[in-house]
Amino acid sequence: MLGAIARGLARLAIRNLTLEDAQTRHARRPPLPEQFDFEEMRRDHEAGRISRECRNWLEMMIVTEPGTPVYTAMLSGLEDARRPEFEAFRRFVVEIWTPEEAEHGECALRLAKAIGFDFDPAMVRDEADWARGYFEACPPCHRVLGTAAYTVIQEELTYLSHRAYAECSGSPELTRMGHAIAAEERYHACFYASRLRDALEVAALDGMTEEEASGVVAEVVARFQMPTNFHSRAFRQHVNQEMRDQAKAHFLAHKATIKRQLGPLFMAAGGLPLVRAVVRAKSPIGRYADEDAEAYARSSPAGE
Ligand SMILES: [Fe+2]
Ligand SMILES: [Fe+2]
Repeated sequence: MLGAIARGLARLAIRNLTLEDAQTRHARRPPLPEQFDFEEMRRDHEAGRISRECRNWLEMMIVTEPGTPVYTAMLSGLEDARRPEFEAFRRFVVEIWTPEEAEHGECALRLAKAIGFDFDPAMVRDEADWARGYFEACPPCHRVLGTAAYTVIQEELTYLSHRAYAECSGSPELTRMGHAIAAEERYHACFYASRLRDALEVAALDGMTEEEASGVVAEVVARFQMPTNFHSRAFRQHVNQEMRDQAKAHFLAHKATIKRQLGPLFMAAGGLPLVRAVVRAKSPIGRYADEDAEAYARSSPAGE
């Protein structure tokens, strides 16, 4: 009973985003690649204004964003993606998320040219290779429940990655681009959190207990790895130890921010039982404390 009340209150705190909300926002959104002056970024690069730390972030971003077709294939091909209850999930993926992510990829490739990073996007367009790594790392991700949970975390960490280079770039135009893409990643995280809520409701109707469903999400949290890791060729060739250490240190340093953002999203999606399961999961960014559940319940996403 108390759990149900807490869940109800949390759901009031964060609005459920519908497909119509996303369609309205998408229709108003100007195409991203045309918003930025890549020649200016080139000049900033040639003038030595882009630090090694920034470049590390950029290269990791460039080997991840142009992989949209493989992510779309995975998202729309999940075992239960065609269930009518997941129409908002499926249509968002195909009609909204894919074109938006394709624009992130286009920005990444234009930037790669501007900073002299020789990258072949075909390296991150191998659906079978990527899916193998993804599903091996995350067996519950075969279904919408697992992948919706994965995607909430992935979008939030991708938000932080765009912010990371924006904040250390030395190029105002690059900073502007990083912030604009980051804001979109955060919107994606919020939208997928609403779909995680749908998936939990469907799981309950299918007869899964709350504990079992929360356990699935907790397993996804515990197994989480960034999508970059599953592009095996590009990862081997372009992502070195220094980049991995830099990203890990950054996410650890921003653990509180990640918790502040993800906590209320999980709270809105599945209430306290889900939050408790998530905070007890051994996450890749360090073990969360039980009292985080209370903080999650109180806080709300900062938004952008
Ligand atoms: Fe993106
Ligand atoms: Fe995204």
